[in-house]
Amino acid sequence: MSSSRPDPALDAAVATAAGSSEPINVALMHILLAAPSETAARAALARATVSDRVTALTALLDACPGAFDRLAAIRALEQPTRGGAASPALWKTLFDRAAEIDEGAAVALYALGRADLLAAATGEIIASLAADDLLSPASTVLDFGCGAGRLMAALAPRVGRVVGVELSAHMAEAAGRAIAEDGNAMVVRGDGRDLAFLVTGGFDLIVALDSFPYVAAEGEERVIEQLAEFRRLLAGGGRVRILNYAYAGDHADRAWSIARLAAVAGLRVLAARPGGFAHWDGELFDLAVA
Ligand SMILES: C[S@@+](CC[C@H](N)C(=O)[O-])C[C@H]1O[C@@H](n2cnc3c(N)ncnc32)[C@H](O)[C@@H]1O
Repeated sequence: MSSSRPDPALDAAVATAAGSSEPINVALMHILLAAPSETAARAALARATVSDRVTALTALLDACPGAFDRLAAIRALEQPTRGGAASPALWKTLFDRAAEIDEGAAVALYALGRADLLAAATGEIIASLAADDLLSPASTVLDFGCGAGRLMAALAPRVGRVVGVELSAHMAEAAGRAIAEDGNAMVVRGDGRDLAFLVTGGFDLIVALDSFPYVAAEGEERVIEQLAEFRRLLAGGGRVRILNYAYAGDHADRAWSIARLAAVAGLRVLAARPGGFAHWDGELFDLAVA
């Protein structure tokens, strides 16, 4: 059977995922992204050295019908963007199209298209903000690159006001639906360079959840520009929490880069570390006024 023929690259991806300590849904995402088909992913898991982790990966794949097709469809959208210069126009096209396939998978491939996994990941992010005392009924929060609004909807009952900024029209529409019942939440279309209508010093917390890598991909000047705008918007004693700053390089590269560029923008890094989430491998960067 051709599907059981060894595929060295895929077998290596399975071995890495099986040996890693990353969340199991993240590990399965890596396998599916490396596989040419679901059948091939299943065959590679069947060929892998038997272990509890391989059994759990196979069980999770069984519990995620359609995950391969969703991830493959969204991944295919990224191919043309690889060739083009990183720009808001490129990201808008990418996320507009991705939202049409599956809003949840588009904002978080690691949720594998499952609403419960996405909700669990969002719940952990909210819990970590609460544990760090960053949410209060009086606080005003900016959700930069809010996507389909999962974080906004979870924040709205816990804070005074939440404003989402989103580049993609389709994502912004989805976010509008997500917060339709929340009188203290609003979504605006924009790319982050156009936030002059937001009051200086008006935000106690700015969260960028898996959105800053798209800014980082546009280069250092753009990062400084966006961080300086965050600095302008931040209230005294306020905090910027960036969950994933960039996808390139390793953690040390990213920590060094954000510290250097934040300093230019008038911010300082308070923390740079793995997020420590059970359902997501995102990194956490906390910044405050220098
Ligand atoms: C991976 S998604 C994450 C969405 C959301 N934060 C979440 O985690 O559910 C990244 C989002 O950032 C948005 N985005 C990227 N660059 C942006 C920019 N410069 N300004 C506003 N939104 C941006 C994209 O359109 C996309 O919806």
